[in-house]
Amino acid sequence: MKAYQELSREELLALKAELGQAYEDAKGRGLSLDMSRGKPGETQLEIGMGFMDALNSQSGMKAENGVDVRNYGAPDGIPEARRLLADMMGVKPENVIMCGNGSLNVMYDTISRSMTQGVLGSTPWCRLDKVKFLCPAPGYDRHFAITEHFGIEMITVPMTPEGPDMDMVERLVSKDPSIKGIWCVPKYSNPQGYSYSDETVRRFAALEPAAADFRIFWDNAYAIHHLYDEEERQDSILEILSECERAGHPDLVYEFCSTSKVIFAGGGIGAVASSQANLEDIRRSMSIQTIGYDKVNQLRHVRYFKNFDGMKEHMKKHGALMRPKFETVLKALKDLEGLGIGEWTKPNGGYFVSFEAMEGCAKAIVDRCREAGVTLTGAGATFPYGKDPKDSNIRIAPSFPTKEELAMAADLFVLCVKLVSVEKLLETRHNSLSKTG
Ligand SMILES: Cc1ncc(COP(=O)(O)O)c(C=O)c1O
Repeated sequence: MKAYQELSREELLALKAELGQAYEDAKGRGLSLDMSRGKPGETQLEIGMGFMDALNSQSGMKAENGVDVRNYGAPDGIPEARRLLADMMGVKPENVIMCGNGSLNVMYDTISRSMTQGVLGSTPWCRLDKVKFLCPAPGYDRHFAITEHFGIEMITVPMTPEGPDMDMVERLVSKDPSIKGIWCVPKYSNPQGYSYSDETVRRFAALEPAAADFRIFWDNAYAIHHLYDEEERQDSILEILSECERAGHPDLVYEFCSTSKVIFAGGGIGAVASSQANLEDIRRSMSIQTIGYDKVNQLRHVRYFKNFDGMKEHMKKHGALMRPKFETVLKALKDLEGLGIGEWTKPNGGYFVSFEAMEGCAKAIVDRCREAGVTLTGAGATFPYGKDPKDSNIRIAPSFPTKEELAMAADLFVLCVKLVSVEKLLETRHNSLSKTG
């Protein structure tokens, strides 16, 4: 098949009729699938059911340091849980504070605290005329929602397969003291599945921001979410805390992670890792906010996984369940190869495949899919303010549907990409003809 751009108007019209018919047939199939979020599939949740039995009324309720997890105390979390999440992030347990049931609220709290209390003694952001954040995009919509919620101006930084465009990051951060942070998903990024190169991580650690209270928000949500065993090494990223320390900037980064997508989404444990100075700063506010998070769940995690090796074994099972789903999507997308109407990522881990449609087509594709019963993440969601300047990025989340449902949804997606692209090409040609005519 030729690239669509090379087809004559007549060929495009014939193709449009054929695809339009196929689309009407697809609509008649009564699909009803929600692929809008990266939710774990039911089988992933099922393999974790032993977690529910890892603690019961017969289990001891004491942590290894003798703390009774049923009571107040140990506000930083029990030592064995700190160790578990420290291992997940590759940092030292003393650099970790255990938080609530996920990581997003820890990020929210971090921004909120910076707004009202400031960062390590600097002016609270709410008292400044302007606060800006760098937002590598495509990126995670909920990050952008937090910064938008607090009235922080977002600056889009293009993503590359190596990570954010570091020339731009360095240039902006070194000059503008109103830039206070950057969102990063360093491993299997959301949505492209890219892992930052060593050079990118080192350049982050070496940043010399104009603002003393600039922080890197290192959201390591997919640290251990490999699709293939062997990719664990290939996609391994440098550990940012020690890189920052080595570069003489120990306070530059906050790292976040959780077990939401390791055990139960929203029923896991979250944590923040940072320098001792930053942790002290965090504790000052956190101790007003809570007397302590859920240590029962922390203990349950440790009893269930035992240690990081246990967690990695569990994640291999997740990988085995996710792999065929990703492969189903990628197999369907192969049908678009050579047509010149889309490109997509082939991640080794994480939760998403990122699709780049022809400019101006993403919204129409998502709309078409929805009309035929498949809800995707809204077009634009992967950019600050929900506005994709090229209207081309679409996030595909293969985790939730069954493989069979996914096959149908992926075929529908491919069909919608083709149909919308043909329509776009016809429209563009029509417009350029009317301009020249
Ligand atoms: C990059 C990223 N960070 C954080 C989260 C949410 O994590 P949690 O459930 O720990 O709040 C997600 C969930 O999709 C995510 O993709």
